[in-house]
Amino acid sequence: MMSLLKKLVGWFDDRFPLMDTMKEHLTEYYAPKNFNFWYFFGSLALLVLVIQIASGIFLTMSYKPDAQLAFGAVEYIMRDVQGGWLLRYIHSTGASMFFVVVYLHMFRGMMYGSYKKPRELLWIIGMVIYLVLMAEAFMGYLLPWGQMSFWGAQVITNLFSTVPFVGPDLAILIRGDFVISEATLNRFFALHVAAIPLIVVGIVFVHLVALHKVGSNNPDGIEIKKHKDANGHPLDGIPFHPYYTVKDAMGAVVFLFIFCAIIFFAPDMGGYFLEYNNFVPANPMKTPEHIAPVWYFTPYYAILRAVPPLFGSQFPGVVAMGVGTVIFFFLPWLDRGKVKSIRYRGPIYKIFLTLFVISFLGLGWLGTLPATPVYTWIARVLSVVYFAFFLLMPWYTKIDKTKPEPSRVTSH
Ligand code: HEM
Repeated sequence: MMSLLKKLVGWFDDRFPLMDTMKEHLTEYYAPKNFNFWYFFGSLALLVLVIQIASGIFLTMSYKPDAQLAFGAVEYIMRDVQGGWLLRYIHSTGASMFFVVVYLHMFRGMMYGSYKKPRELLWIIGMVIYLVLMAEAFMGYLLPWGQMSFWGAQVITNLFSTVPFVGPDLAILIRGDFVISEATLNRFFALHVAAIPLIVVGIVFVHLVALHKVGSNNPDGIEIKKHKDANGHPLDGIPFHPYYTVKDAMGAVVFLFIFCAIIFFAPDMGGYFLEYNNFVPANPMKTPEHIAPVWYFTPYYAILRAVPPLFGSQFPGVVAMGVGTVIFFFLPWLDRGKVKSIRYRGPIYKIFLTLFVISFLGLGWLGTLPATPVYTWIARVLSVVYFAFFLLMPWYTKIDKTKPEPSRVTSH
């Protein structure tokens, strides 16, 4: 049996770099030995990506991208298709969990300075994934053709029309019509099920290529490649396989327990994962009293609403929202700190990072609520805090008193 297997592998190896690739990227790929809880989220993001693609393919088999039929098709999937309810809840829960995982993955990068040299490009590629993921989620949300699908898309596409000069044409180009319509549904469907998933898979691959070129950072934020043994292997590294394949598998099991608990016990998550208004069919003649995007967009939505209009134009708010999103791209250059990891940073950075988290969560919460005058003022204060974290970063990371880094990784 073994010799047959060896022959088979040999046959492949003569025609394809199978064992070489396995060695280079798994069995002889050395990762820092001190990965902690925060290092689960990269592999979990991969897992959710696979879950979304697999469940999405099956949903597409019963869905109808037609304004007259879409809402009914989703109800049909929920009630009549064998296991359809499960597929839909897997996909809707997966969308939210994708953002939970990606936000934690990004926050890990911020805590341990994973965006700093030599991982700037890895971070930028990650940010591109994040933006594309937002587009994917936004377009997917139109497909159930409920009230929130329709009016949410109407609000967001209208934002594009505030851009000076080209705005109105841009909005029509995106919608394929003057309002959200059948044409919009058709193009969002095509982009959501085919174009964007292909792009995401492509960029995730590039993300991993970049990661394996520079190697992982770690909770100490020091480079393990600086200390190697006689064979050229990092002294503080361990082979990715079997050590991290096993560890990540354990993380995946725990994650799937939580994932299943949500699907089976709280698939709408109190209206946060599936909004109640979206169980009502889209009605272009009736605007819902309160329109809010899904939770993962609400921090930016709160920034948008916090900025007052200028000469009746919402454009300043749109710019603030856009800048608030893309500002993460610049972290590698905004951060002037001498050390990478929060473990060796001074108190000022820690205070600013904590304030950033409070502002992000606070804005996220406010974005789900109707904009009363009091809430709008709180959102303004939190928006200032949010931007201060980034814009003052060159200053406070420079003056902050850092601790000396150890030369080898520690095992806290
Ligand atoms: C579909 C989305 C994504 C997938 C599948 C993915 C996958 C991965 C994987 C498997 C790793 C290695 C394991 C780990 O360090 O946790 C990783 C590392 C990394 N990712 Fe992502 N990622 C995604 C999105 C992002 C985003 C949005 C960013 C940042 C904006 C990002 C930035 C990074 C960085 C900086 C590292 C290296 C971290 C370190 O070594 O400390 N990734 N990613």
